[in-house]
Amino acid sequence: MSEVQQDAVQAALATVIDPEIGRPVTELGMIDSVDIDGATVRVHLLLTIAGCPMRSTLVDGVEKAVGAVEGVNSVEVTTGVMTDEQRRRLRQGLRGDADELPNPFNDPTSRTRVYAVASGKGGVGKSSVTVNLAAALAARGLSVGIVDADIYGHSVPHMLGSDDRPTPVDDMIMPPQAHGVKMISIAHFTEGNAPVVWRGPMLHRAISQFLTDVFWGDLDVLLLDLPPGTGDIAISVAQLLPQAELLIVTTPQAAAAEVAERAGSITQQTRQKIAGVIENMAAMVLPDGTTMEVFGSGGGQIVADRLSVITGTPVKLLGSIPLDPKVRLGGDDGTPIAISDPSSPAGAAFGAIADTLARRQDSLAGVSLGLNPKR
Ligand SMILES: Nc1ncnc2c1ncn2[C@@H]1O[C@H](COP(=O)(O)OP(=O)(O)OP(=O)(O)O)[C@@H](O)[C@H]1O
Ligand SMILES: [Mg+2]
Repeated sequence: MSEVQQDAVQAALATVIDPEIGRPVTELGMIDSVDIDGATVRVHLLLTIAGCPMRSTLVDGVEKAVGAVEGVNSVEVTTGVMTDEQRRRLRQGLRGDADELPNPFNDPTSRTRVYAVASGKGGVGKSSVTVNLAAALAARGLSVGIVDADIYGHSVPHMLGSDDRPTPVDDMIMPPQAHGVKMISIAHFTEGNAPVVWRGPMLHRAISQFLTDVFWGDLDVLLLDLPPGTGDIAISVAQLLPQAELLIVTTPQAAAAEVAERAGSITQQTRQKIAGVIENMAAMVLPDGTTMEVFGSGGGQIVADRLSVITGTPVKLLGSIPLDPKVRLGGDDGTPIAISDPSSPAGAAFGAIADTLARRQDSLAGVSLGLNPKR
């Protein structure tokens, strides 16, 4: 029988990726020791915190990877917890050692596309659109994160079916993940259903921390689920993420269209771009195949046309999502219809919009060059 090679074990360990950080455990200082005893390999793994929710995933990963190394008969994994010093080094390795963490999305080298999902009115489906697009984009292989920017009315973790809490590493926060989507929400920092009673500056600080203190890794797409209207948070997002493009959600109703137009036209003041309009709660397909326009029709196109005129650049209607009880059920159950039933009319509509957004991925079209005419 061949002897187990230390190099081969190290190479196997380097294939084990920490699910929260997205880097090999060997790079993160998580492998404390490797002891080869004949055909038995003992690995002592350091977790970032006691009670780390990823413990079993990491242990399984190590067992599988090392178990596949030539000559290995059994793998014994024990776990310990990093010291403060080890955590500080990990944080330093990931984010440098500046006292104040920078906003990684504003780094000139960042390739993350940032979309803020906005509407004039409440209840038109911003959160449903956010989680469905995020899940659909993740299913297409993109690395996706959601900031639940609706501090008072947070709903993202629930709609993604996640009760997980973020993991602190030194002063960094590892976001929980569900359906391949990383997320952060004020729900992660409150007990039970306690209300958040904050004024504007606190809201701003919370959104800012969601961007800077959370370790997002290299995201392809960051989605922000905004509260309805053009209040404090919309302004904070515009200040903190000037490159964020708005996705305006409206229902097909003419009255809703007017309000949605207002939400879109704030870009005239904030100088943000509009990525497009999404019409939600469009004609419902009934079991007999006929359709019912519960909220009327045409609102999405009206908003896109009016915003094109107001901004002087073409604004597209990216898609129209039918009213479908399964959209609501998916939100209640925490499994977005875009991935549980992608061929249903609503699932397919979300998928088509995700395809459009995914295609824009590496295009420079729509990326602000930061040129401002001299006044
Ligand atoms: N296409 C749809 N078909 C059926 N139900 C839908 C659809 N879109 C959203 N809903 C349901 O409508 C309700 C409101 O949706 P959602 O919470 O996504 O809206 P919102 O704009 O984020 O609301 P708020 O302004 O309160 O944050 C939810 O119960 C959701 O499940
Ligand atoms: Mg919402």
